[in-house]
Amino acid sequence: MSIIELIQIDKKYNEGRDNEVHALRGIDLMIEKGDSLAIMGVSGSGKSTLLNILGCLDKPTSGSYKLNDHNVAHKNASELAKIRNQTIGFVFQSFGLIESDTVYSNVKLPLLFSDKYKGKEVKNRVLDIIKQVGLEGNENKKVKDMSGGQQQRVAIARAMVNDPDIILADEPTSALDSNTSDEIMKVLLDLQKKEKTIIVVTHDINVAKKMDKIVSIQDGIII
Ligand SMILES: Nc1ncnc2c1ncn2[C@@H]1O[C@H](COP(=O)(O)OP(=O)(O)OP(=O)(O)O)[C@@H](O)[C@H]1O
Ligand SMILES: [Mg+2]
Repeated sequence: MSIIELIQIDKKYNEGRDNEVHALRGIDLMIEKGDSLAIMGVSGSGKSTLLNILGCLDKPTSGSYKLNDHNVAHKNASELAKIRNQTIGFVFQSFGLIESDTVYSNVKLPLLFSDKYKGKEVKNRVLDIIKQVGLEGNENKKVKDMSGGQQQRVAIARAMVNDPDIILADEPTSALDSNTSDEIMKVLLDLQKKEKTIIVVTHDINVAKKMDKIVSIQDGIII
């Protein structure tokens, strides 16, 4: 079964104004549960726009988006926030971590907005996921005192802690050297073995080649 089904997705920024940008044009995309997919394309081609729509961070101008068989294209902001919290984990290029805080607090954050884990389960879950990304023993370290690769592992742990079905990553390795990049990809692909669906935006063909499928986008069209 497809976990994601996009049909004829269009996205216009500043619609009807002089500065209108037609960022996505008729995107059709099916993604199966447990698949890994790379999205490639030059700067400005629409990759982040597509990822934002997939992640329910933004809405398409037109078209249909089915996520887990629910039509999400026209839901309101609070409904989208709920779907996002339950279904999707995000890993961004700039990590988006609170640098002055500990690894433990950063990873715990999404659980404050969720009721999947309660009471004592919260601590166990946070410690378990920190272990899964290879950072056991670093729980009380401040994020700002860690290397780029370690910080990216923290970001992945935070994206996974709520046990989402889908992980979306925008250039997750672009700030890292090639060895560290390989390690981070290994962490992401290990997730896929746990039946997660992984979608990665990348400029790096070596990263893309590790995924099951590659989709190329040019001027808002899948080619
Ligand atoms: N919030 C916005 N308002 C107006 N135009 C935008 C907005 N965000 C993106 N765009 C435009 O939409 C087009 C696609 O942008 P997008 O950010 O999706 O590209 P990208 O493929 O992610 O590029 P990069 O590789 O540089 O991150 C570009 O022309 C961009 O200028
Ligand atoms: Mg982008």
